[in-house]
Amino acid sequence: MKTKYDLLHKLKDKMDKDESLPLKKGATKLVFGSGNTEAKILCIGEGPGRTEDQMGLPFVGQAGKLLDKLLILAGLERKKVFITNVVHHRPPENRDPLPNEIEAYGKYLDEIIKIMKPKVIITLGRFSMAKFLPNVFISGVHGQKFDVEFQGQKLVVIPMYHPAASLRNGDIEYNGATLMTRMKNIRMSRILKYSHHSRVIRIFVSPLCH
Ligand code: URA
Repeated sequence: MKTKYDLLHKLKDKMDKDESLPLKKGATKLVFGSGNTEAKILCIGEGPGRTEDQMGLPFVGQAGKLLDKLLILAGLERKKVFITNVVHHRPPENRDPLPNEIEAYGKYLDEIIKIMKPKVIITLGRFSMAKFLPNVFISGVHGQKFDVEFQGQKLVVIPMYHPAASLRNGDIEYNGATLMTRMKNIRMSRILKYSHHSRVIRIFVSPLCH
């Protein structure tokens, strides 16, 4: 039987060859995702920035440092999660992804979710939040827990501000503490037990965990 690791690699290869992806021409590298392929927690950001585009890895620039801080404050770390984005090539000048771009990359993101079967999705910013929770404002729902059925899968979605939106001192600490509280609640319902005790830690494409 193919492992999640194998299936994700196959999907990445397919995506890399897909010339129809609207942001591909302007990008250096595909930023598919990185992390523990057996993780039950999936973090979804917005799209690669300059550093991510050069390295082919998500959240490795400034925003990545803030994400690492957020995860650690929440009692998580990169090897316990898998990280991807709503669009997997860098939008020009780091502009927001457009609706047709989100749709084009969305079929691959759906496939990643289908393969990974996460129990918890942490959305980072409003674009990934809107995929699961349309018609809400992030300021109104930040840090809350939503039970969502997605592609027939039951998931918990926790919408978080994008780490790069932490402009004031203390934002990350506050957001990290909020996420920590939420994760503790979820852990109590044993949803994450498997993920935290998983012995199978296979890191997707080296050096994807740092
Ligand atoms: N911001 C994102 O949303 N994703 C990345 O991969 C990097 C920065």
